[in-house]
Amino acid sequence: MTYDEAVETSRAPLRPAPRDRELVRFATLAANSHNTQPWMFSADGNEIAIAPDFKRRCPAVDPDDHHLYVSLGCAAENLSLAASALGWRASSLFDGERIVVALEQAPPAASALADAIPVRQCTRAVFDGRPAAPEILHQLENACREPGVAAILMTDRNAIKKVTDYVLEGNSVQMRDPAFMRELVSWMRFNETDALATMDGLFSRVSGNPSLPAWIARPLLRLFFTEDGENKKYRDELDSSAGVVVLAADRSDKADWIAVGRACQRFGLQATALGLKYSFVNQPVEVTALRGQFAASLGLGERRPDIVMRLGTGPDLPRSLRRPPELVIQH
Ligand SMILES: Cc1cc2nc3c(=O)[nH]c(=O)nc-3n(C[C@H](O)[C@H](O)[C@H](O)COP(=O)(O)O)c2cc1C
Repeated sequence: MTYDEAVETSRAPLRPAPRDRELVRFATLAANSHNTQPWMFSADGNEIAIAPDFKRRCPAVDPDDHHLYVSLGCAAENLSLAASALGWRASSLFDGERIVVALEQAPPAASALADAIPVRQCTRAVFDGRPAAPEILHQLENACREPGVAAILMTDRNAIKKVTDYVLEGNSVQMRDPAFMRELVSWMRFNETDALATMDGLFSRVSGNPSLPAWIARPLLRLFFTEDGENKKYRDELDSSAGVVVLAADRSDKADWIAVGRACQRFGLQATALGLKYSFVNQPVEVTALRGQFAASLGLGERRPDIVMRLGTGPDLPRSLRRPPELVIQH
């Protein structure tokens, strides 16, 4: 199978049957940290459970599994939207270990957000600088509405500049941290063959970089993947963005991190449905030493900022891969 065929297979239109396989396929199309796909699914009657796969955790960038649980929330949101589109009303609860999604038959509820699931992608590219109209911003804010989660949407250039400073400072800290770099590189996939071998990770072309044999790409990383180069890239990306959104839960526990994931996934889907692009710039919330100052700069008080995303108008990039449902459904 070629890379493009694998993308097409995982992103084929939603079919009503086999129901559980299809819902899991759509759940796995969610955004997730480093594309580790840190989840396992199980189905029992009209219940589908999503459990963390701790073998796929990222101890360097995410030592307390904060973004792992956000990723599970993203998957739960996709699953619920896909279920509604197929005529199954979904209600979820977190039992302390797994998200259990109960399905009840209901009239099918097609939605622009469900339609956006196979199209959505994180676009790590310079956008075109066009501002977003107020009614678009309003729809994006609405998409983030989730009990216990605050969304701060910024379009003022000075506010975005302040966030940019934190992103650059965070990026510098991370790129000087050997453990962070080792972990990041271990999830990089430098060419189609390597990406297809694992169906996970960060494929170079998805981020706008060339596809190369790993033995050539690895030594070149030192030359081309530098602190200054990445800082310039992030500055250009943020300068060209129409806005930045920060999500912060009222409490800092697994249930609230999952809630943040749901809001964050809906934001990405709504942006996609509106023809916009988005990507994550999470450095200020990933670097512990910066997180408190970043929270204070946003007036968040004791609350922990969980996610930072930018949005705007930009190009289509190649889509990322997902492991097929057979590999993530436990029997
Ligand atoms: C909790 C979370 C944290 C993420 N952090 C970052 C990040 O800091 N930088 C980045 O470029 N992408 C980040 N991403 C995006 C993922 O890398 C992306 O979702 C994954 O590679 C799959 O690609 P796709 O969303 O385009 O399908 C994050 C996603 C999630 C859900």
